[in-house]
Amino acid sequence: MSAPPDQQNPGLPAFWDQRFRNGVTPWEAGGVPAEFTEFIVGQPVGHRGRALVPGCGSAWEAALLVRHGWQTTALDFSPAAIDSARIVLGEGWSGTLLCADFFAFDAGSGFDLIYERAFLCALPPRCRAEYAQRMAELLRPGGWLAGYFFLGDTLKGPPFAIPPEQLDDLLRPAFVCQVNRPAADSLPIFAGRERWQVWRRR
Ligand SMILES: C[S@@+](CC[C@H](N)C(=O)[O-])C[C@H]1O[C@@H](n2cnc3c(N)ncnc32)[C@H](O)[C@@H]1O
Repeated sequence: MSAPPDQQNPGLPAFWDQRFRNGVTPWEAGGVPAEFTEFIVGQPVGHRGRALVPGCGSAWEAALLVRHGWQTTALDFSPAAIDSARIVLGEGWSGTLLCADFFAFDAGSGFDLIYERAFLCALPPRCRAEYAQRMAELLRPGGWLAGYFFLGDTLKGPPFAIPPEQLDDLLRPAFVCQVNRPAADSLPIFAGRERWQVWRRR
């Protein structure tokens, strides 16, 4: 059997490029979700540091992070996503915008915060163990993996829902779950199956 064309393989940038270029982006929130805004605004002064937004897409959250004093890297392997992020972030944005693969980029020293939204569920399920391992490597002890996880057991995607017990098995060796509640304002594509979670690196 021949391999599928690149645009049908969510493990490749071409899949995402095609969707961004054609405006087929049902995951696009057009702003920052409520719980993440509260989380960032609620941090005590001094609780800032290095933040990473992997699979950033249009990168609305990266703008919020920089406004609140975080040294922020937003990263996506799709050039079309990076073009969209560049427009959202604008000229004066002082973070780092990288067109790079999450699994391969040179990260430097540990991050204090990694923001997850519609990234894990965009990855082919075979990448999940590597995702958990990479998150654990990138965060310093005590750092946060905070964001939105798409839970369930549908095999077709993206978005690929992950069974909650599988997510627990993947993250618990290196993380403690501190917050886990339904997301307040999910888009239709994630409705009823999206949870706001905050995991702390052991
Ligand atoms: C469903 S979109 C979500 C975008 C954004 N997080 C949001 O909430 O709007 C998934 C994004 O992850 C990116 N992506 C997928 N695999 C990636 C990888 N290995 N490295 C970097 N970016 C990746 C895609 O290019 C796409 O922009």
